[in-house]
Amino acid sequence: MNTQDYIDREDRFGAHNYHPIPVVLDRGEGPFVWDVEGKRYFDFLSAYSAVNQGHCHPRIIRALTEQAQKLTLTSRAFYNSVLGEYEEYVTRYFGYDKVLPMNSGAEGDETALKLCRKWAYKVKGIKEGRAKIIACEGNFHGRTISIISMSTDPDARNHYGPFTPGFIIIPYNDLKALENALRDPDVAGFLVEPIQGEAGVYVPDEGYLKKAYDLCKAHKVLFIADEVQTGIARTGKLLACDHEGVRPDILILGKALSGGVMPISAVLADDAIMLTILPGEHGSTFGGNPLAAKVAIASLEVIREEKLAENADRLGKIFREELSKIKSGMIELVRGKGLLNAVVIRPVNGKSAWDVCLAMKDNGLIAKPTHEHIIRFAPPLVITEPQIREAIDIIRKTFSQFK
Ligand SMILES: Cc1ncc(COP(=O)(O)O)c(C=O)c1O
Repeated sequence: MNTQDYIDREDRFGAHNYHPIPVVLDRGEGPFVWDVEGKRYFDFLSAYSAVNQGHCHPRIIRALTEQAQKLTLTSRAFYNSVLGEYEEYVTRYFGYDKVLPMNSGAEGDETALKLCRKWAYKVKGIKEGRAKIIACEGNFHGRTISIISMSTDPDARNHYGPFTPGFIIIPYNDLKALENALRDPDVAGFLVEPIQGEAGVYVPDEGYLKKAYDLCKAHKVLFIADEVQTGIARTGKLLACDHEGVRPDILILGKALSGGVMPISAVLADDAIMLTILPGEHGSTFGGNPLAAKVAIASLEVIREEKLAENADRLGKIFREELSKIKSGMIELVRGKGLLNAVVIRPVNGKSAWDVCLAMKDNGLIAKPTHEHIIRFAPPLVITEPQIREAIDIIRKTFSQFK
């Protein structure tokens, strides 16, 4: 089978809910992937920042295969010998009393919404059924009905109504709007991405997160950080909130919590919040399974021992600096933090971000446009300086082809 055969088969038998770059990947190692024809690429998407530790990290794969031969799933009907070890490890790692393990990022966000509502009724004293959660325009928190009820993206929402009530939507990076919304006494939480990844790597003004956190505190409202994409070293610190010394009341993690090996998400909070959920009131068959527990521990160990946050910080600066030097009419703006970066593309002669991504693919680097005119660049954090310089050469060469 060649590339086109694989594409045709997916097209024929799979739902058409994605529009992939036409490359068929077969193998991965560190910052590289290979297609079915044997061609090597720099992976500059990292499965939307899930593969921060690099493809098939030997230590994570070892944890996976060892545990896979012993015990994979018990459900939470019983205790297992690994979950407690993971719970202790992850709560100490991030500094919270408790963790609630789930699978996908969307489930993590759903869990945070439910937790916030429980807290609203049981602790804050909001009248049953009236709690509201503030979210931001341009947000991306996943794809469930409740989550898209917060979305302002027509593609995410169209023809999916009726929507879940109880959300107030305000502009991102707008403290005045937050202050106004917080005047409503039924507000229980403020859900925010420290950098809006899917929206196109929108980095808020310096101080925004800290001031937003302080406003939430002043109104007895939970500050809920969705660090599913920004967390786990991606932006040059363990959490993007760490850049401003903010400790969220509820922290949502996913993606790189497994190093891209399997769906693992987590919600972290202190007892006063987490213990409002009682047995039987929330859960998931696979959440907290022993396989995931071992994989997540190994993934977090790799982040710390290989100093991936420091690497992301250092190489991110080089990356943005070098990209800003590229002379191209198509580059409108370069922005980002750590190794979560984006280029805003100005279409030239009918050529768009999609065309740039196709040309980069031909030159040996894969990335994907987000919202048509933005290309996100997010390589695995194990990438080295010589490798990132080689990748920058590919990007430079590609833009020169569009002159
Ligand atoms: C900030 C954020 N939250 C939640 C999600 C949803 O994660 P998942 O696709 O694992 O459900 C994403 C996915 O891109 C994300 O970027």
